[in-house]
Amino acid sequence: MSEPLNRWDPGLYAGRAAFVTAAGQDLVELLAPRAGERVLDVGCGTGELTAAIAARGASVTGLDFSDDMLASARAKQPGLTFVAGDAQDLPASFTGAFDAVFSNAALHWMPRMDDVVAGVARALTPHGRFVAELGGRGNTDTVLRGLRAVLPRLGLEPERFIPWTFPSPAAYATILERHGFRVRFLSHFDRPSRMDGAGGLRAWLTIFSAPLMAALGASGDRRDVFFSLMENACASLRRDDAAGLRWEIDYVRLRFLATLD
Ligand code: BEZ
Repeated sequence: MSEPLNRWDPGLYAGRAAFVTAAGQDLVELLAPRAGERVLDVGCGTGELTAAIAARGASVTGLDFSDDMLASARAKQPGLTFVAGDAQDLPASFTGAFDAVFSNAALHWMPRMDDVVAGVARALTPHGRFVAELGGRGNTDTVLRGLRAVLPRLGLEPERFIPWTFPSPAAYATILERHGFRVRFLSHFDRPSRMDGAGGLRAWLTIFSAPLMAALGASGDRRDVFFSLMENACASLRRDDAAGLRWEIDYVRLRFLATLD
């Protein structure tokens, strides 16, 4: 059983994880939203890509599981519609309500992948399209290996703090096809993601592992031990060259365009 996943620090996310949104801009190009289309943005986070889709004239609804993220999205994009919800249980009111469903860096937080894809298929109109990117097989393998080695040393059960599912391209295509999608495009590729500075790995772990940070407690000492052990375990991700001291997190992405026809 993993920990609750709705705890986020939107300020830290927008500041230190801006690469997530930046990398998603060309996913909006793949979506190619048209004026007047109704689009659902699943796992919209702080809403920057929701706004990019709206800027193309589409009528977009951002959905997220985290109240913290939604509060930030509403404050930043006051004219847009954001709703709270779990994409593993999309509501009946969404049935046939969208021409396209979009998602960036969110689907790997939802272990019930079949339920997500079934709900997306229901939410789409005939010929609707699903355009998304998530972590694919091999994503952040070095970090995951580090967590599995380090957490038991601190008396913590690793699987409680590793909630993510990173499917292979074959597995995800099978799910899409099972729910009636035709996979038009699917790519599985490396995208090392840069966290600047000596504290880059610490910042990444703090942003993406809020439940783990809570379990380590407020005292800096236990966190420091954890961070030092992780820096050793993930030393192969550390770069120190003319481009500066940084950590390159070993992201591997799965990006696809699928249609209902
Ligand atoms: C990702 O976006 O790939 C990711 C996010 C949190 C933890 C691990 C991976």
